[in-house]
Amino acid sequence: MTAPVFLASCSPRRGGNSDAAVALLKQSLSVPCRTWRIADEGVHPCISCGYCDAHPGQCTLDAPGDGARKLFDAMFAAPISVIVSPVYFYHVPAQAKAWIDRAQCFWTCGEKPGRGKAVTAVLFGARLRGDKLFEGAERTFRYMALALGLTWEDPLRIYGLDRPGDLASSGEACTRIAEFAGNLAGRHGL
Ligand SMILES: Cc1cc2nc3c(=O)[nH]c(=O)nc-3n(C[C@H](O)[C@H](O)[C@H](O)COP(=O)(O)O)c2cc1C
Repeated sequence: MTAPVFLASCSPRRGGNSDAAVALLKQSLSVPCRTWRIADEGVHPCISCGYCDAHPGQCTLDAPGDGARKLFDAMFAAPISVIVSPVYFYHVPAQAKAWIDRAQCFWTCGEKPGRGKAVTAVLFGARLRGDKLFEGAERTFRYMALALGLTWEDPLRIYGLDRPGDLASSGEACTRIAEFAGNLAGRHGL
């Protein structure tokens, strides 16, 4: 049986635009999906202990109750992963950054566990314009993909979403997400 598509919301705000975008992606993809909220997974931030330098792919913080490894394993199994994130100070929320930093333990892996799989993102912020609004988040996700061996695909970028219901009340943003999901499914033969 094929593993489900990996859909993750990076916002700590429950019921906000990220959660709504994940629900919309799931509905639009119409294949089995598993949804996650990174902020609920108890991920501890990297402490730069150096253990993974000598033990590629292993982390001293991997333990029951810490969801970092569980999230990475779900991505490695999924045919495609979509990470949904708001912009926080031109980057991603701290809970998501803590998880991204945990990808460091795969940096020295000769055989990358995500090889042959792909990851993309849906990114949004409150600002209505700004060439560089998504630059920080995009670059970070791209390098996380590199550490994991996943192929990074161009994300969807949406301006002007701020209050929790902004996505749900924007027909244009909802259509763009549904189209993004449709294109993704087509490209990956889902
Ligand atoms: C701490 C914090 C920092 C933010 N920084 C930015 C920012 O730099 N640029 C921007 O356009 N929006 C910024 N926002 C607004 C969020 O991106 C916006 O409210 C988003 O829709 C929240 O998504 P959510 O509903 O999934 O939590 C920030 C919000 C918070 C709480």
